[in-house]
Amino acid sequence: MKISVIGAGFVGATTAQRIWEKNLGDVFLHDIIEGMPQGKALDMMESAPLLRVESKIVGTNLFEDCANSDIYVITSGLARQPGMSREDLLNRNAEIASGVAENIARFSKNPIVIVVSNPVDVLTYLVALKTKLPKNRVMGMAGVLDSARFRYFIASELGIAPQEVQAMVLGGHGDEMVPLPRFSTVSGVSIEHFLSNEKIEQLIKRTRDGGAEIVQLLKKGSAYYAPSAAILEMVESIVKDQKRLLPCSAWCEGQYGITGQYVGVPVVLGKNGIEKILELPLREDELLALQQSARHVASNIKKLNLS
Ligand code: LAC
Repeated sequence: MKISVIGAGFVGATTAQRIWEKNLGDVFLHDIIEGMPQGKALDMMESAPLLRVESKIVGTNLFEDCANSDIYVITSGLARQPGMSREDLLNRNAEIASGVAENIARFSKNPIVIVVSNPVDVLTYLVALKTKLPKNRVMGMAGVLDSARFRYFIASELGIAPQEVQAMVLGGHGDEMVPLPRFSTVSGVSIEHFLSNEKIEQLIKRTRDGGAEIVQLLKKGSAYYAPSAAILEMVESIVKDQKRLLPCSAWCEGQYGITGQYVGVPVVLGKNGIEKILELPLREDELLALQQSARHVASNIKKLNLS
């Protein structure tokens, strides 16, 4: 497996590290800043004797070195600063993502592409359009991260191990994301059994604001540990053909009444990318919230003036 991570900032470098340390394949870390990806990759390679990692990691400024990757993870672009929404990044990050997509189309045949840069649902659409790849081979990372945050908040509220908590957050990766408490459980038991509605609402709000909470604390830049762990989960499911059920930004063609755009829905992720979209039996209010979130993403896609 050849896995290229485009963008060697905090999210990109941490992602490359996690993928490389798990021996999922040879990792190529690309950035336009001279020396930076090379330095980070060399630093990681020097830890190989200690960590007993057998794969290699290479840092580069040349996209050619990332040619013919099986998987590309796009993290390049600006990160949020305090007071900014993900959508404030739209124009600049769309330009950067377009360039990356053109390079992917030029230097590879039929890869799987995971878009991480924000606003992620919009940029995933753009990358799918520009690479002309089959829509099931292009996806955005958001739902795994948002669900992990929700799971962690539920677990710490209950004093139960985070791994026991399952949760589902759908919709666009933004203020209108759709956490679904009805499909969130502690070892199979609905969280509604353990927590009051008021408490659940508080945890939902904290999840929606989860990215901003980190930005506020860091004061410079946005989260990267949980985002890179979420990307790793997706990459691993693809590399090992695990067919895990994960919420990802996926191309919808009628599912949930949404057509012709990317938005966060539960998918089965395997060696062919998105192998299936699962349609949960949503209540009317949940479905309306998801559709509203999708409309919000669509309105931002319009701002790009794509043909
Ligand atoms: C966040 C960024 C990755 O949610 O959007 O932290």
